[in-house]
Amino acid sequence: MCGIIGIASNKPVSINIINSLKKLEYRGYDSAGLATLTDDNINEKKCSGRVEELEKILFKTPSKGNIGIGHVRWATHGVPNIVNAHPHSSDEVSVVHNGIIENSDEIKRELKSKGLKFKSQTDTEVITLLITEALKENEPLKSVYKTLKKLKGSFALGIIFKDFSNIIIGARRGSPLAVGYSKEENYIGSDSYALKSMTNKISYLDDGELCVLTKDQVSFYDESLKKVNKKIHTMSENESSIDKGEYKHFMQKEIYEQPITIKNCISEYVDSLKKNINIINFPIEPNNINKIVLVGCGTAYNSCLTAKYWFEELTTIDVEIDIASEFRYRKLKFNSKNLYIFVSQSGETADTAAALDLCKKNNVKTCSIVNVIESTIARNSDWVLPIHAGTEIGVASTKAFVGQLTVLYILCLKLAIVRKDINDKTYEKNINNLKKLPEAIKECISNENKIQLMAKEFLSAKGSMFLGRGSSFPIALEGALKLKELSYLHAEGYPAGEMKHGPLALIEEGLPVIILAPKDKYFEKTISNMQEVIARGGKILFITDNKKESINENIRFGFRVPHLDNLLSPILLTLPLQMLAYHVAVLKNCDVDKPRNLAKSVTVE
Ligand code: AGP
Repeated sequence: MCGIIGIASNKPVSINIINSLKKLEYRGYDSAGLATLTDDNINEKKCSGRVEELEKILFKTPSKGNIGIGHVRWATHGVPNIVNAHPHSSDEVSVVHNGIIENSDEIKRELKSKGLKFKSQTDTEVITLLITEALKENEPLKSVYKTLKKLKGSFALGIIFKDFSNIIIGARRGSPLAVGYSKEENYIGSDSYALKSMTNKISYLDDGELCVLTKDQVSFYDESLKKVNKKIHTMSENESSIDKGEYKHFMQKEIYEQPITIKNCISEYVDSLKKNINIINFPIEPNNINKIVLVGCGTAYNSCLTAKYWFEELTTIDVEIDIASEFRYRKLKFNSKNLYIFVSQSGETADTAAALDLCKKNNVKTCSIVNVIESTIARNSDWVLPIHAGTEIGVASTKAFVGQLTVLYILCLKLAIVRKDINDKTYEKNINNLKKLPEAIKECISNENKIQLMAKEFLSAKGSMFLGRGSSFPIALEGALKLKELSYLHAEGYPAGEMKHGPLALIEEGLPVIILAPKDKYFEKTISNMQEVIARGGKILFITDNKKESINENIRFGFRVPHLDNLLSPILLTLPLQMLAYHVAVLKNCDVDKPRNLAKSVTVE
């Protein structure tokens, strides 16, 4: 949520700020802005909407200045307009902020009572005014430090000062902040991706830390303002190259990358010859695990829900799952024999990070399944299982979801064999099937044209339903989530067996209903539920891996995914649903990679 960038250089910085903001746009795209220091003045430019608008403004009236900060906003306090766009500047300082200041109303009242005036509706402006006040008696670092003491909430900040024209101060509490280094230039950014075109040398601020950047050096300070040293991480080539290539959208590219990312993921964890799963150093000895608790948000939660069916099927371990925003406020009975697993693509989701912190405070063992290995959640957990999906840019998660499922499945198999919950024969059969997964995914994607036809059925639809049973139920939830976030069409995911308990009332003539019916123990029951929908006029889009089931006249469209085994069917059923959501969004002219009101990394509660 919100992206920030800061560059201290020996040459003009505005063009590089714009380029970095374009990379950060996945974090927020309600408005954009930058501020540079020129001739002892703060030169601010802002727009509502996208970075390309800001670029046009700069093209007409270029910004000079070798020091600058930039921002893309995902609105929290105040509507998305120019006035509320960042940076928020006084005559003395300019601030960009990612996060939320929870006590901003209280501070606002206090500052207003002293006669200070606010221009915007944002929480950020209190930071600008507090620093401006503090600067009357303190130097910049002390002013920022004193200001941070008054703030509650989570944030990452970038600050420049009119009278100290060679420095940028960065600060982090809760929201991530990276620092980049290169010759005669240094940077701060919300993530390393924003800095990639300029450097591959990165450090990360830890919670509570501050940094002071000049073009030649960076100093780091802890929460009591003691100097600290930082490790510098060198990013690999892979981590540095990201573009859309031949694809129209990042989401489409990410769907097509899945055979490769899943192959990479499997080969990271499964020995190619011996069929060993090389997951080691369990934080709790597998035989002593009492319960697995899986926690995530949105799509990551759907992967936890899918994994629950696998753990129940293959192991004797009790499983509990929860949505992170609920988990963090529950009155839980923590148990040191439980393994708490946090699933997150970004590794920065505020609720998931807070749920993890709660576990740490209660001294229980934590594991994270993440895509971004240098993320907060990865760094704060006892044990990390990366999903190796590569950078995911599309706001709608695709390859990361399938990656999360793959890692969860591998973890489940490993626990099952180590605990002897399954025998060697079952284990080997499952590993063999797993290895066939990348090819099966490829086959699904190769039938994209059928999905394009299916997508047309949604153009005049008022809504839609996604139904499945067993492990197809979380995939129904995921399919509905993808469709609504991308095409703004109402979509409900339901366990098919639950329809009679209320949702059947929604079925009317022509309503698209997606039936997920793999050939598993629920197949016949799902078909019965489908008949009930047909009898009430629902338009059926039928997705199965059953070769025998002929697609009859009551089914408007059918799509077959390859059959590997019942355990892996949720992964394969996901592919047509990703493509469906993508094509409905394309047909409806929606912004596929940046759906309205959303952001890739949800760093506020
Ligand atoms: C996925 O399509 C969504 N954009 C969203 O639900 C996402 O999965 C959720 O916000 C969790 O993000 P995370 O995996 O980065 O923690």
